[in-house]
This record gives sequence, structure tokens and C-alpha cells, in this order.
Amino acid sequence: MTSDSAGQPWDAAGYAAHAPFVPELGAPLVALLAPRPGERILDIGCGDGTLTVALAAAGAAVVGVDASPEMVAAARARGLDARVADAAALPFAGEFDAVFSNAALHWVPDHDAAVAGMARALKPGGRAVGELGGFGNVAAIATALAAVMGRRGFADSVLPWHFPTAARFAERLAWHGFTVESCALTPRPTPLPTGMSGWLETFAAGIFGRLPPDDRTAARDEAVALLRPALCDEDDNWTADYVRLRFVARLTA
Ligand code: BEZ
Repeated sequence: MTSDSAGQPWDAAGYAAHAPFVPELGAPLVALLAPRPGERILDIGCGDGTLTVALAAAGAAVVGVDASPEMVAAARARGLDARVADAAALPFAGEFDAVFSNAALHWVPDHDAAVAGMARALKPGGRAVGELGGFGNVAAIATALAAVMGRRGFADSVLPWHFPTAARFAERLAWHGFTVESCALTPRPTPLPTGMSGWLETFAAGIFGRLPPDDRTAARDEAVALLRPALCDEDDNWTADYVRLRFVARLTA
């Protein structure tokens, strides 16, 4: 398994087992984009291609990009045109009718470069529809991880996520020539099918990977124990404190 630039390893089978809610909860975004037959659409951070398939099913010609070679291989195994690319350095110019992105852009440190690449990839008048973690996303989880890693000598900057406010993200869209139709935060408490351990295994492996191997399980167990009072109910059901930032914008023609 390779790791991305944030040190996060990706594993398509683990993702499907621990985080099936990511494409499930992203499905309404496909409806919002309303892909049409014959359109060319770019899916940024396509992962294993679950939503890319839904875009293609509408008759659009879809290109998926993802930073993870493992995820791109999983998307290609579905017959998709998927390519390894950094969302902050998209290699496209004026060729797409729409760009789409679900649950990916918060892994990108440079949102300015990502939005610039989206604008560059689109034809004039093209639309952009997406969701990412927004300001306050996974605040409890991030606080617990910062505490566990802080005790071991790592600063808060060990967390690889970037959760913008709606105002800041809308401003970036506008800077790069988009007319913003909507850009807003919505809390979305999200049940975790395999609990906090499964979530941390999938999404925090890069963080714990900074620790000596023989301390990683203890660190994960400490984070789970810290989070239990806030995110686990009396029947052992875990809910992540997600906040989504959803945007709909159109490149000024
Ligand atoms: C999210 O989709 O909000 C998310 C996923 C993994 C880590 C942090 C946030």
C-alpha cells in the first residue's frame, strides 16, 4: 500500500468496509449535478469510483482522478477512465462541462490551487458541484487525535485535514472566476458501521503511522477511549461529528 502526500495509506477494501457511507451520503450530489448524456465530467478524488459510476450511468463521459494509485486501480477495475493526479495540480484545460468532488478536497492543503485547477479544467460556463469537510468537521475526533499525538510529542499540525469556512471557500471560488450559486455548511452526524476503531483505521492510519509500530494500537485505543463519552451511545453505536461544506458554482462564461 502506498501513502499519499499527507502520509495517508489508502486501501479500497478497507474503505468499502469501514466507510460505505461516504459514497452513499454523496449520492444526492450526483442528482444536484444532474449529469447529462454526452457531457464530459471530471470527478476529483474519485476514490474507488462508486460515484463516478453513477455519473457515467447518466451517459456522461467521466474522467476520475485520485492521488492514490490503489484507489485509481480499484476505479479502473470498474471499467472507468481513472488517473492518478494531485487535485492541487490538475492537468486539464478547458475540456469539461462539469467538475464534481465528494469528500476529497479536505485532504488537499492548497484549496486555492485546487479551485484554480477546477476553473482551468472547465469550459466557459461549466459547473462545479462538490462537498468536503467544512469548518468544525470531526472536531471531537481531531481534538482527541491532537491530544493523543501531542502526548507523544507531535504538534496539532500532524492532522492532515483542511476544513474551510463557507465564506473562505466561496471567496476562493469567486477569485477563480466562479459565480457561486450556493456554498454552505451543514452538520451531518454520521453513524459509523464499524465504530471509531474502523474509522481511525481507515482515515487516521497516516497519523498513527508517525508513531513507532509498537505504540500505534495503544494510541488508537486511547483516542477511542477519549471519544467514547462524546460519540458513542449506550448501545455501542458510534456517530462521527461530520460537518459538510457543499458548493454549487458556475464558471463565468
Ligand atoms: C470527511 O469526509 O469529512 C473526513 C474523512 C476523513 C478524515 C477526515 C474527514
